Amino acid sequence: MNKAVSVTDSAARAVPSLPDAQTVTSVRHWTDKLFSFRVTRPASLRFRSGEFVMIGLMGDPHPETGKQKPLLRAYSIASPAWDDELEFYSIKVQDGPLTSKLQHIQPGDEIILRPKPVGTLVHDALLPGKRLWFFATGTGFAPFASLLREPETYEKFDEVVITHTCRDVAELAYGEELVKSLKDDPLIGEMVEDKVRYYPTTTREDSPVMGRITTLLQNGTVFADLDLPVIDPETDRAMVCGSLGFNKDIKEVLEGFGLVEGANSDPQHYVVEKAFVD
Ligand code: A2P
Repeated sequence: MNKAVSVTDSAARAVPSLPDAQTVTSVRHWTDKLFSFRVTRPASLRFRSGEFVMIGLMGDPHPETGKQKPLLRAYSIASPAWDDELEFYSIKVQDGPLTSKLQHIQPGDEIILRPKPVGTLVHDALLPGKRLWFFATGTGFAPFASLLREPETYEKFDEVVITHTCRDVAELAYGEELVKSLKDDPLIGEMVEDKVRYYPTTTREDSPVMGRITTLLQNGTVFADLDLPVIDPETDRAMVCGSLGFNKDIKEVLEGFGLVEGANSDPQHYVVEKAFVD
C-alpha cells in the first residue's frame, strides 16, 4: 500500500532515490550545539585515519520543479580506519543549510555519504618523530578522535599530546570521554598505555586551564604544565584542526618553533586542516 505523500505527483516523480545512502545507527547530543552520530560503513570504503568525506542529506524540493539536490559538506571521519561503522562529530547551526536538518537525524534514518576520502591529517604526511601533537579547537577534535584510536599513531610515536580548546567546559565532553575510553579499547588499549597526554583548555568559562592554546604555547605554560621540552623539529610532529583563524595563528606559532608544513606528497613536521563548519 502506498503511503500518502505531501508532494505533488510530478514532484514525487522528480525525487531521485538517495544515492550512496548509509543508515544512521546511533546519535548522541553533547550540548545544544554539538552532536555525534554513527552510520553504517560501505563495504568498499577504505580510508586512512584522519581523512574526511562528503556527507549530507537531500535538500528541500525546488518550489517549482520539485527537484531535490543533495546538500553535502566535508566531515572528518571521527572513527578509526578499522571500525565497522563510521562516526562523525558535528556542530548544530540553527540556520545552517545542512546542520539545521542533520541535527534531527535518528537511528534508522539515511544520510548520503560520498565514498571518496581525502585529507592531509594523515601519518603519511609527517616525517618520523618522537612526540606527536594534536591541536584542536571545537569540532576540530573529530579527525583526532580517529587518529587517537589508530594503532599506527602508537607504533610511530612514543608520546601523543592532544590539546583541545573550546569556549565552554561542556564543549570538551566528547573529547574527554573519547580520551578516557582509549585505555579500555580492546584493540588499542594496550598500545596506548600512558602514551596519551590530554590538555583541555577553555576560553570563556572557568576550568583548570584557561586560555587559547596559541598563547599557552607561546608563553610556555603548556610545556611547564606537561613537564615537556619546548617543541623542537628534531623530535616533535604536529597536526592541527580548527577554525581558519586558529589554523593561521597556530601555523605561525609552530613555524616559530622551527616546524615546516608537510603534505601527502611532501612529508614534513606538521600538517593543518580546516574544521569544516556550516
Ligand atoms: P576565543 O573564545 O578566545 O575566541 P570558535 O567556537 O569560535 O571556533 O572557537 C573555538 C575555540 O577556539 C575558542 O576557545 C576560541 O577562543 C578558540 N580560538 C578561536 N580563534 C582562535 C585563534 N585565532 N587562535 C587561537 N584560538 C582560537
